[in-house]
Amino acid sequence: MASVPDLSVKLGSLELSNPVIAASGTFGYGLEFAPFLDLNRLGGLCTKGLSLKPRLGNPVPRVFETASGMLNAIGLENVGFDRFRDEKLPLLQKYRTCIIANFFGETVREYAEMAKQLSSLERIDALEMNISCPNVEEGGLAFSSSPQIVEQVVQAVRPSTSKFLIVKLSPNVTDICEIAQAAEAAGADAVSLVNTYLGMALDIETGKPFLANGSGGLSGPAIKPIALNMVYQVTRAVSIPVIGMGGIRTAKDALEFLMAGASAIQVGTANFFDPAVTVKIVDGIQNWCISKGVNNLNEIRGSK
Ligand SMILES: Cc1cc2nc3c(=O)[nH]c(=O)nc-3n(C[C@H](O)[C@H](O)[C@H](O)COP(=O)(O)O)c2cc1C
Repeated sequence: MASVPDLSVKLGSLELSNPVIAASGTFGYGLEFAPFLDLNRLGGLCTKGLSLKPRLGNPVPRVFETASGMLNAIGLENVGFDRFRDEKLPLLQKYRTCIIANFFGETVREYAEMAKQLSSLERIDALEMNISCPNVEEGGLAFSSSPQIVEQVVQAVRPSTSKFLIVKLSPNVTDICEIAQAAEAAGADAVSLVNTYLGMALDIETGKPFLANGSGGLSGPAIKPIALNMVYQVTRAVSIPVIGMGGIRTAKDALEFLMAGASAIQVGTANFFDPAVTVKIVDGIQNWCISKGVNNLNEIRGSK
């Protein structure tokens, strides 16, 4: 009988039982998906993006289906730090899966404060810092827009936490490798990519955008080839682990990202059309490894 392959992955000091992580904003606070799958079977889950104070997000409509993807302009709606700590986290404690708190701020100071608050929560295994949101001090320019700003915000957060720090990169930049290198230089333990691509859909009856916000972020299978290329480039530009995502919906998609050099992968939009897709991807990777005689994921990983 074929032996069971070892799917565990080590991202520096962070160990996951397998490389499949549910992506932020598409998996609630994890608990919402517990009726559909065994959360313990995931390598990890990222919470919805958290801020110090609760946020209502943007007006509706906030999502729009596109060919092979979706546009969203949720506007980072979340319960805020206090309610996450008091209402969500206690219910997540019993699961073994790695819990990654995704967070953001509108100022450099807010990022650092949020990292400090989240670090006081023992059950949180890692922090994922979303730098795609507007920097109010810089007139709304995204934090991810230049290597200098990225370095500044990551440098400010680094001393505020001893947790494993993942910096999540926006693909809406000229050179994502430069941005990843800036995050690494400022002390990131890993980078994750990609967040959504800026996009828009118009209603031809009114000539107006479908989303109340005007534009939104494109995700899902439509972005997979561009995301995969960015992951491939970034794994060769930095020496810290890279977590890849963008349009993954099958084990084959996940294996492509791992072969491109990603140490782990995240699954986002696919959770909306199949809430159990993440565990199906874990099973699919395992079956593929058995069929190919692969004992360990290091045997297939690209440059790392
Ligand atoms: C509805 C929705 C909400 C999202 N919210 C967040 C968020 O709060 N923080 C974050 O870092 N990324 C957020 N994302 C981005 C996803 O985590 C992921 O980076 C992106 O969707 C690409 O992966 P996918 O094609 O598998 O969905 C969101 C995506 C969607 C579709």
